[in-house]
Amino acid sequence: MDDWVFRVDELTKSYGDDAPLANDGITLQIRPGEVYGLLGPNGAGKSTLVKQVIGLLEPTKGSITIGPYDLVADPDHARQLCSYLPQAQMPIASFKVREAIEIAGSIRGGGGADVKRRTNELIEALDLGEWRDTLGAKLSGGVKRLVGFAMTSVWPGKLVILDEPTNDVDPLRRRMLWAEIRRLGEAGTAVLLVTHNVLEAEKSVDRLAIINEGRLIAEGTSSSLKATDSGSLRLQVMLAPGTETPALPEFVRFEGRVGHNLVSAITESDASAGIAWAQRLMAEGLAEEYALGATTLEDAYIRLTGHVSEEL
Ligand SMILES: Nc1ncnc2c1ncn2[C@@H]1O[C@H](COP(=O)(O)OP(=O)(O)OP(=O)(O)O)[C@@H](O)[C@H]1O
Ligand SMILES: [Mg+2]
Repeated sequence: MDDWVFRVDELTKSYGDDAPLANDGITLQIRPGEVYGLLGPNGAGKSTLVKQVIGLLEPTKGSITIGPYDLVADPDHARQLCSYLPQAQMPIASFKVREAIEIAGSIRGGGGADVKRRTNELIEALDLGEWRDTLGAKLSGGVKRLVGFAMTSVWPGKLVILDEPTNDVDPLRRRMLWAEIRRLGEAGTAVLLVTHNVLEAEKSVDRLAIINEGRLIAEGTSSSLKATDSGSLRLQVMLAPGTETPALPEFVRFEGRVGHNLVSAITESDASAGIAWAQRLMAEGLAEEYALGATTLEDAYIRLTGHVSEEL
């Protein structure tokens, strides 16, 4: 099994002398059957990394290998060994959904009957049946995304790379998509998954890395990354529309604000004081509701990157 470990060593990419490094000495490994999440805010360097893996960009420095193969020296091999769902939508305007998936499977070397069977399986598993014979040009963004995923995983290579596969996908089908991603891993494929969706990634990946400003700043299982937050609770306050962020008591640590949603952390011993503060904001008409709960990977992500992920 270990023969097919995917390795990135000291990968560095510069887009030009005056720009900061888009990838700065990134090292990581993914084993066969492992679903590995790559998380980080906009512009962190995630797509830059995956484009180098697939041979669309040449690294400035560093190496990328799968088993015995050097993907930098041999980009053709990279395309053979990796299946790739780009962040941009696949160009499938003039194909029906079923055809697009089958064609993708045969291009990757799958046999006719097997590709047909697997296409039907994916159409079923992602609940795409009603669009089976619809032209790509007529699909909604989320359905197109799912079809792109099906095209990428119908006949997977040793490594499946998914750049933001869940974008625009509705919550129910997103759950189906995550289940299919897990299934790829269970079938022995290594999966490199780029996502903004920290909370969903937490449930679905075996390990993950957080990338910020081109550098890998944390790596591990979701529990190991959360461990540093132990003893903390998350206090989330939904502010009333048009309300400025209120002054926080000393024991409340500000973590971020998305729209009206104020996210903060408190230690467990301050739980009742935290609730009293949130209730006071409500009584003053500054907040509409609050929630106190266990910390999630999102909290570790916010602490490490200084950004909130898009989904709270
Ligand atoms: N073709 C390019 N030429 C110059 N700079 C680029 C190019 N592509 C990306 N960059 C820069 O490199 C950095 C990393 O971009 P990248 O697209 O890898 O980020 P990302 O993590 O995928 O972000 P997002 O979450 O928004 O997709 C950014 O500062 C970006 O502006
Ligand atoms: Mg990107």
